[in-house]
Amino acid sequence: MEESKRFTKATWRIMEQLLEVDNLDEALAGSIEIIVNELNSEAGAIWLLDPKTDRLSPLFHIGPADISNISVENGLGIEGVVTKTGESVMVTDAQNDPRFDGTIFDDNGLITKTMICVPLNNLHDVIGCVQIVNKKDGSLYDEEELQLCERMASLAAITIDEKGLIVDLGEKKEILASLRNVIKEFPSGDGVSRVLKGINLDIYKNEFVVVLGESGCGKSTMMNIVGGMDFLTDGTLIIENKDFSHPTDAELTKFRREYVGFIFQAYNLMPNLTALENVQFIAELVDDPMDPHEAIAKVGLAQRENNYPGQMSGGQQQRVSIARALVKKPRLILADEPTAALDYTTSIEVLSVIEDIVKNQGTTVMMVTHNVEIAKMADRVVKVRNGKIASIKKNLHPLHAEELIW
Ligand SMILES: Nc1ncnc2c1ncn2[C@@H]1O[C@H](COP(=O)(O)OP(=O)(O)OP(=O)(O)O)[C@@H](O)[C@H]1O
Ligand SMILES: [Mg+2]
Repeated sequence: MEESKRFTKATWRIMEQLLEVDNLDEALAGSIEIIVNELNSEAGAIWLLDPKTDRLSPLFHIGPADISNISVENGLGIEGVVTKTGESVMVTDAQNDPRFDGTIFDDNGLITKTMICVPLNNLHDVIGCVQIVNKKDGSLYDEEELQLCERMASLAAITIDEKGLIVDLGEKKEILASLRNVIKEFPSGDGVSRVLKGINLDIYKNEFVVVLGESGCGKSTMMNIVGGMDFLTDGTLIIENKDFSHPTDAELTKFRREYVGFIFQAYNLMPNLTALENVQFIAELVDDPMDPHEAIAKVGLAQRENNYPGQMSGGQQQRVSIARALVKKPRLILADEPTAALDYTTSIEVLSVIEDIVKNQGTTVMMVTHNVEIAKMADRVVKVRNGKIASIKKNLHPLHAEELIW
């Protein structure tokens, strides 16, 4: 297909995306996804300027580097220069470009070579920029591709103007766990199969991060590594500034016991113990547990402490399993499809409890789900594809559990 025709189609798809998708950050994310694919690129990001701090921060990014926590001063780095001047930039050799800031992508898992960066203008101001990085085939970007990006940016700016956008990307978050170039291989036949192919991801304190991705892409494997349930083959895992890539058995046991709580699709309660006893049983294993009664009350089951699992609904049983995770006072709760076996109403009950844990206990929750609606509750949505991080999106306005509909 002729280049210009191809780009006309891409422009149409971007327009549809921006006009038809209700949620603004979703629409922007979808548009940049179209461009990254159309320009056969490795990465892309949409940066927004927070007028309070005069700093830019990524709302959404595609590609293997986790830049969620990066912010740049307006005027600095190529992103800052474009936002400050309002002029597009095409970079042919980033590493030798004096404006280039290597700490943005390069320290987070992606070596920047070439780039297009265009301003996001509304009627009066530059409100950020759109950036596309590295053609996959190593070639340079051309004028026409730059124009497509500019077109996308102006369409996006119109939508932003129409729908209104208050940018408050929050403070820089403290990192709880950090994965860098994490590789996981399993033995397979005569050789090995590589399931995680270089994961770069930071998980912040007190955030709710949702992980999406097709079956078999490596979500559970990644969570199990973060939770000390499995070992990585290569790369690094840092937990609270400590290298945890190759823990000893003793460290691992302590970590699993004291630090993480797990919630699975199957509740795995002991059928011959009451709700309270199921929770007490775990409390006895840790040094400084929460009062089991309190843990049960937090999941709204104070009246049902003495029920056996067989006497409770699926949602109630799942809440007991959440209480069992909570009673350890873990820093991190890992939830692998916790609502997959539940109907809508009980799912919302369980999700409300999880929301409360993040908001009121200061716990970090990382949750895998196949339900894209649930992702609207998250602070960040991480998409995994074929053993790599495909994209990370911040929700500007996370929904409450009760607002979700499916
Ligand atoms: N212990 C193991 N030994 C060998 N292969 C494994 C092992 N665990 C996972 N795999 C393989 O790794 C790949 C990723 O599995 P994983 O369970 O992480 O996927 P997932 O994204 O959680 O999928 P789902 O959405 O179906 O739960 C799959 O191809 C799976 O067969
Ligand atoms: Mg899984």
